[in-house]
Amino acid sequence: MNIAQVATRRYTTKAFDPARKISADDLAALRTLLRNAPSSVNSQPWHFVIAGSDDARGRIADTLKVDFPYNEAKVRNASHVVVLCARESLDSAHLAAILEQEQADGRFATPDARAAQEKSRGFYVALHQQQLKDEAAWMDRQVYLALGTLLLGAGALGIDACPIEGFSDAAVDAALGLKEKGLHSRVMVALGYHSEEDFNARLPKSRLPEQAVITEI
Ligand SMILES: Cc1cc2nc3c(=O)[nH]c(=O)nc-3n(C[C@H](O)[C@H](O)[C@H](O)COP(=O)(O)O)c2cc1C
Repeated sequence: MNIAQVATRRYTTKAFDPARKISADDLAALRTLLRNAPSSVNSQPWHFVIAGSDDARGRIADTLKVDFPYNEAKVRNASHVVVLCARESLDSAHLAAILEQEQADGRFATPDARAAQEKSRGFYVALHQQQLKDEAAWMDRQVYLALGTLLLGAGALGIDACPIEGFSDAAVDAALGLKEKGLHSRVMVALGYHSEEDFNARLPKSRLPEQAVITEI
């Protein structure tokens, strides 16, 4: 299957088969996808919580009962649920850790290259923190790049997925103890394999026509 076929065949699964689990190899591939998602100035302002046990998915599902009941069974019956979180802020410790990782990974041939990278990243972080004052929204945009990477990658691996924004971030943060870790849940993805009850598997995909959304100049 080529990448265009993956994009057109993947779809949002509305009901998962609780008996089918994602293999360890495929889970490792999903972790690789998440970790390698691109982010502005390599800021990686994220953390991904992967709930694989019945207990962990149950804790998330319990938060959905009242206000988002249509998403509860998806979380309970999926093989795994990834909670994509944004950091509370791009603090100096996080920025230092990124720079050290880039050094360790061989990104800097000279001290000047390291200093230039630090300066360039610092410029954008300061721009969003101090001038535009949109640091949280900026970090969220990076988290959503990981979301897109995960959804397309899951499709390529033949894993069904349901992206989920229908949840209370405050409730999920509390259920998973995320605030104490300086994290905020932003979006989730239930992953696994669809069941016979998945009405969406039988429906055609629908998108606006190409000319309505793409202009070539
Ligand atoms: C950010 C985001 C949040 C979504 N939240 C939900 C959700 O809470 N529950 C759900 O059943 N589907 C959810 N969806 C699925 C969308 O409705 C679906 O992606 C869209 O209709 C396009 O269909 P397709 O994914 O099958 O191509 C979400 C999708 C995205 C990208």
